Amino acid sequence: MVKGVRVYELGGPEVLKYEDVEVGEPGEGEVRVKIDAIGLNFIDVYFRTGVYKADLPFILGREAVGVVTAVGPGLTGRKVGDRVAYAGNPMGSYCEEMVLPANVLVSVPDAVDSITAAAVMLKGMTAQFLLRRCFKVEPGHTILIHAAAGGVGSLLCQWANALGAVVIGCVSNKEKAAQAVEDGCHHVIIYKEQDFVERVKDITDGKGVQVVYDSVGKDTFQGSLACLSLRGYMVCYGQSSGVIGPVPLSALAAKSIFLTRPSMMHYTTTRDELLSTAGELFAEVASGVLKVRVNQTYPLSQVAQAHADLEARKTTGSTVLLPDSV
Ligand SMILES: NC(=O)c1ccc[n+]([C@@H]2O[C@H](COP(=O)([O-])OP(=O)(O)OC[C@H]3O[C@@H](n4cnc5c(N)ncnc54)[C@H](OP(=O)(O)O)[C@@H]3O)[C@@H](O)[C@H]2O)c1
Repeated sequence: MVKGVRVYELGGPEVLKYEDVEVGEPGEGEVRVKIDAIGLNFIDVYFRTGVYKADLPFILGREAVGVVTAVGPGLTGRKVGDRVAYAGNPMGSYCEEMVLPANVLVSVPDAVDSITAAAVMLKGMTAQFLLRRCFKVEPGHTILIHAAAGGVGSLLCQWANALGAVVIGCVSNKEKAAQAVEDGCHHVIIYKEQDFVERVKDITDGKGVQVVYDSVGKDTFQGSLACLSLRGYMVCYGQSSGVIGPVPLSALAAKSIFLTRPSMMHYTTTRDELLSTAGELFAEVASGVLKVRVNQTYPLSQVAQAHADLEARKTTGSTVLLPDSV
């Protein structure tokens, strides 16, 4: 038996139950991993509250870094002692150990420690597909990033700056604004104090931005549309403030707007896509282009507090959960 975090009923952070969990032996195509660090992601909140559906009970978590301790029968290409990471499917990483399909794993380069890897794998692969493939950011683009001091937001700002874009970041307070500037934002809007639509109009001389990366959802969607230039890209990749309601096509017609609601999992479906996305990410981390902010760590047993802080907008950068046995 190892310790893990199970959800029996949907609800607030109090439904997270830290308890004994049985971990089986790896079958064909699988490995068993002793987990060193677990990335906390907003998607974990969506599953805990039922915004995204899973059969109850379930072990939460979609990102972990650890060491292979057993290899399933006949598996080649992985051995005991390999340091590996995964992000996305399957769910169940809030645990001290886990059995995982070998084909979701990537090797963690020596230059990247396990806590950093857990902080950056899911959020950084998200930043990679958003900036490099969903909409391809190029020098001279002016772009708007909501929640710019958050886990994904911090990486988006740094990477977009390195790609040569003019970066406008939206955050909720002064401390977050200072971090966003350090992360490469050329302009920061504190959207609790200023009307972000008006500010974007001022900054862009009324032209609007080529793309909005909006993870906030319900509260910002309409304003984000208003910030776009003609033929701009509205990239709705999350809904931390709530789900966006139905959108009439006419809302896009006025400026020929492109609207997408992408998922990292759909941009890392093949083994080649996964390896090239993770490879590019780890290269940017190892070379120092991306500075991974591990601004909070919590013991896995304190995961309820970590969820409460993430939802209360108290966290910045990435949050990592550490198995109590590490
Ligand atoms: N589509 C994908 O594949 C994909 C992958 C990864 C993450 N995501 C999405 O990316 C977003 C960021 O994820 P993350 O894990 O890095 O979280 P995060 O950005 O560190 O935390 C969420 C941030 O959203 C902002 N926010 C605005 N309104 C909020 C509200 N009502 N409640 C809570 N937060 C609110 C807060 O920043 P301010 O205080 O500055 O407003 C908060 O710090 C999430 O929406 C997540 O679902 C999507």
